[in-house]
Amino acid sequence: MKNLLLALGFLSLTSCIQESKSYTPEEQPVNLSLEESIRRGEYLVTIMDCHACHSPKIMTPQGPVPDPNRLLSGFDASQPLEELSKEEKITSKKWVLFHPQMTSAIGPWGTTFAANISSDDTGIGTWSYEQFKKALTEGRYKGLVNTRPLLPPMPWQTYQDLEDKDVRAIYDYLKTTTPIENIVPAPQLAMQPQ
Ligand code: HEC
Repeated sequence: MKNLLLALGFLSLTSCIQESKSYTPEEQPVNLSLEESIRRGEYLVTIMDCHACHSPKIMTPQGPVPDPNRLLSGFDASQPLEELSKEEKITSKKWVLFHPQMTSAIGPWGTTFAANISSDDTGIGTWSYEQFKKALTEGRYKGLVNTRPLLPPMPWQTYQDLEDKDVRAIYDYLKTTTPIENIVPAPQLAMQPQ
């Protein structure tokens, strides 16, 4: 009996080893060409869902979907936040409210507007790579030193550990997007940023 158990144990051990041996990871591309980087950037922007907040939406029976004519252009500055009371426009202490286009949110921090990150000069058109990396991974407004921290719901903390090649890919892709002119309003703060 003891021998049988040992044999079974040995068999399951060897099958584990065999299983792990049969796994060969795909090689990671180290240096991407510009074209590959742009393609990877488009993929990352899609799966990391930058569109959820940065693209104005059109309403469909299934809910809001990114407007293909205004991709990544941020909160549409020509649309006032009209239905809200004066207080609601500045802060919502108990709930987080999203604009129907998902490009603006109101919460305990105040009211924020998703930035224009298209390739226009009112977006990230004039930004250097260093600026972009600082904004995306360190949460600094315009990616400049000593500017204010980026506010919710921009999930920059989630992006802190992005690899350089991925930040680069997102940047390369955004630089090739259709430029959309749109100057997004400044946030209305309910508290002072740290
Ligand atoms: C859940 C909503 C949300 C998602 C998802 C999101 N963002 Fe943002 N983002 C915002 C908001 C809101 C702001 C403006 C914050 C502020 O004014 O402080 C912002 C700001 C930024 C800024 C700074 C712009 C500036 O002028 O300083 C960059 C760059 C940026 N986002 C890039 C991205 C990228 C790239 C992605 C996807 C990988 C992404 N964001 C995903 C909501 C979001």
